[in-house]
Amino acid sequence: MPTIRHARSADADAIAAIYNQGIAERTATFETEPRSATDILAKLARAARRPQLVAASANGSVVGWAGLSDYRPRDCYAGIGEFSVYVDRGARGAGLGRSLLEALVEAARECGDWKLVSRVFAFNRASLSMCRACGFREVGIYEKHGRLDGCWLDVVIVERLIPENLASAPP
Ligand SMILES: CC(C)(COP(=O)(O)OP(=O)(O)OC[C@H]1O[C@@H](n2cnc3c(N)ncnc32)[C@H](O)[C@@H]1OP(=O)(O)O)[C@@H](O)C(=O)NCCC(=O)NCCS
Repeated sequence: MPTIRHARSADADAIAAIYNQGIAERTATFETEPRSATDILAKLARAARRPQLVAASANGSVVGWAGLSDYRPRDCYAGIGEFSVYVDRGARGAGLGRSLLEALVEAARECGDWKLVSRVFAFNRASLSMCRACGFREVGIYEKHGRLDGCWLDVVIVERLIPENLASAPP
């Protein structure tokens, strides 16, 4: 099983390549423009507050990425992170997505976050199963939340509280 660790600058190319697989497949995100290593480095620059993790196989190659970004800029939402998980297509279905998301919840807990959220395409069974296995609840469905290649798509809102950090929320 690959090792999960915090991402480093040297991982930026590999993370971008894995993210771009997901973008190209049109099953994970409304994004259509490929990401560059520079885009990833901008995320890594904020990793102390919004952790970025990778799964590295025994030979050191990166086969998965999970990261947090801000949910909203308002102070009242400071402890809410929006998560992404992408596994290299050659490494999927072997438990890696679940391990990455579990590790990301722990990293968010250490950062003081009280909630993680995401929006998942309603047809993305692997992602919905992964979220369920990691303790996420399905809040509801945003209908026709965006168009991808001309098709309106519904997304499932998922959330997971980190109860021990609720007390740190601004009053
Ligand atoms: C979604 C993704 C991250 C899941 O990672 P993974 O390593 O393939 O998934 P895992 O092996 O950890 O499996 C997690 C759960 O999904 C289920 N699952 C995995 N692949 C599946 C598939 N193709 N169809 C249905 N369920 C699937 C597993 O059975 C498991 O559920 P369980 O714990 O109830 O048995 C990965 O498939 C991926 O990178 N997909 C493309 C990008 C993407 O969709 N990212 C999510 C954006 S919201």
